[in-house]
Amino acid sequence: MSEKIEGTIALVTGANRGIGRAITEALLQRGAAKVYAGARNPQSLTDLSEHHADRVVPIEIDVTDAEKVVSAAEQAGDVRLLINNAGAAFGGGLADANIAETAQQEIDVNYIGPLRLIQQFSAILGSNGGGAIVNVVSVAGLTNFAFFPTYSASKAAAHSLTQGSRALLAGQGTTVHGVYPGPVDTAMAESVDMDKATPADVASAILDGVESGTEDIYPDAFAEQFGQQFSESPKASEQQMAAMIAST
Ligand SMILES: NC(=O)c1ccc[n+]([C@@H]2O[C@H](COP(=O)([O-])OP(=O)(O)OC[C@H]3O[C@@H](n4cnc5c(N)ncnc54)[C@H](OP(=O)(O)O)[C@@H]3O)[C@@H](O)[C@H]2O)c1
Repeated sequence: MSEKIEGTIALVTGANRGIGRAITEALLQRGAAKVYAGARNPQSLTDLSEHHADRVVPIEIDVTDAEKVVSAAEQAGDVRLLINNAGAAFGGGLADANIAETAQQEIDVNYIGPLRLIQQFSAILGSNGGGAIVNVVSVAGLTNFAFFPTYSASKAAAHSLTQGSRALLAGQGTTVHGVYPGPVDTAMAESVDMDKATPADVASAILDGVESGTEDIYPDAFAEQFGQQFSESPKASEQQMAAMIAST
């Protein structure tokens, strides 16, 4: 099963910048009928909605706010493609005084947020014929990138949620896609000193993966190589990360 982008109706969280904006633009380019563009501040979407008129519907969604998510589902009952893209990485080491609070915030955005959206939109997708859910996870959700230990743990929770949702929603015909990018050139990865993929290339690979029905999407060169190694030996991936930490 797969979801065609042309003619679909999508909702993207964190659509105002970074990968979410690139996904929104790629959806429009490929002929999506309508995109609900979710943002904490919908005014940050004015240029997009002015340019695309009624094909872009700005919608206020803070994924940590249960009422906002319920209200989004009430406004967007025609959605067929839910893209859980919003994410946050606050950084910090294990010995930081506020590390538990940081970890809680990352869990709220990166795991509980997508969980809330899936809870509210599953029945909508089912009643619209099945559709698809995309969770933008990270390679750091497969192996802890210990430069960002608590972010990685929150993404591991999102990865597990992806697997569970896939099993639970298969019966209603909803496909669930996990996306595992490597470094991408956005504000989130500003401090990362590695080669980075462009948000546009990553967005395009994500939509290709949805259309081809690919469950685990590795949308850039680093991710592809990492995914290959991880599928052969999760332990070797862990050891590679530990070696990177040891060499800094
Ligand atoms: N960049 C990378 O290297 C990389 C690699 C792997 C995975 N990812 C994942 O890709 C996704 C997009 O990240 P990005 O690189 O595009 O980062 P970004 O440029 O920092 O954008 C993050 C987006 O998430 C939104 N957001 C943050 N907290 C939110 C909340 N509580 N409710 C709703 N929206 C919220 C932000 O909105 P505001 O403008 O309101 O802050 C923004 O639109 C994230 O899930 C991230 O973890 C990124």
